[in-house]
Amino acid sequence: MSAADRATSAVKSGAKRLLARTGFDIVRTTHRGGVDDFIPFEATMRAARAAGLSVGDHIDQVMNGTPGATQHTIDELRALGVYAGGPKTVLEIGPGSGRYLEKTLKECTPARYEIYETAGPWANYLVEAFGVVARPTEGSSLAPTPDDSVDLVQAHKVFNTVTFLCAARYFFEMARVARPGGRIVFDVMTEECLDPDAVRTWATKGGTGHGSYPAPLPRGTCVDLFATLGCTLQGSFLAPLGVASTEVLVFGKDV
Ligand SMILES: C[S@@+](CC[C@H](N)C(=O)[O-])C[C@H]1O[C@@H](n2cnc3c(N)ncnc32)[C@H](O)[C@@H]1O
Repeated sequence: MSAADRATSAVKSGAKRLLARTGFDIVRTTHRGGVDDFIPFEATMRAARAAGLSVGDHIDQVMNGTPGATQHTIDELRALGVYAGGPKTVLEIGPGSGRYLEKTLKECTPARYEIYETAGPWANYLVEAFGVVARPTEGSSLAPTPDDSVDLVQAHKVFNTVTFLCAARYFFEMARVARPGGRIVFDVMTEECLDPDAVRTWATKGGTGHGSYPAPLPRGTCVDLFATLGCTLQGSFLAPLGVASTEVLVFGKDV
C-alpha cells in the first residue's frame, strides 16, 4: 500500500468511527455505477418516527423540503392512466426508502411487487414492511424477471444518480420485462430541466456533486431508444429533483 493509499484509508476509517459515534450508518451498495451510498437507514427511520411522519413523508417534507412531491408524481401518473388497468405485477428499481412503493400500493394491489435495490438495510425493510420480493441486484440486470411479465416497471430518482452505462443497460432490461400493454415509468434530468437558470442553480447550490449525481440524459435519446424497443412515449411531466427538476417519462409497451 502506498503512503497516499494509507492516508486515504486512515481518513476513511476515522470518518466511519465518527459516523458510528453519531449513530449514523453508511449504506454501502454492492454496485459501483454512481452514487454508492444511500441515506442511512437507522438514523432516517428514527428521525421520521420522532417527527411522527412516514419515512417517505419525512424525506419529502424534512430532508428535501418538498412536501407532497411524491404524492404529486403519483397523482400525475394516475392522471396518465398508469394504474387504470390495475397492475398485477410491479417491478421497481432502486426503491430506497419505499416512498413511491408505499404510495403505489395505495393505487393498486399487485399480486407480486419485485424490487431491485442495492442498499441492503432498505431492501430488507421493504420486504418486511410491505411483503415485496427483493431480487439479487448486480449492476443493471433484471435477469431473475422473465420477459414480458410485468405490468408496471418503474424507477424514481435513480437514473440521475447512476452512470450513463448503468441507466442505459437498465433501459434495455425494463423494455424486456414489461409485458405488451404494460407501462414503463422513470425520470431523467433531460434538457427540459436544464435551462440556463437551472444550470446556474445546480452550479451554485447543487452541493458537492457526490459521485455521478446529478447525471443528465437527453430526452430524445430515451424516447428514440424505447421506440426501437417497441415502447411509445405516452406522457411526461416535471418533478422536483435536488435544487431543480427531473422529467418523468411514461412509456407504454406496444401490444
Ligand atoms: C436517490 S435514491 C432514490 C430512492 C427512491 N427511489 C426515492 O426516490 O426515494 C437512488 C436509489 O437507487 C439505489 N441504487 C443505486 N444503484 C442501483 C442499482 N445499480 N440498481 C438498483 N438500485 C440502485 C440506491 O440504493 C437508492 O435506493
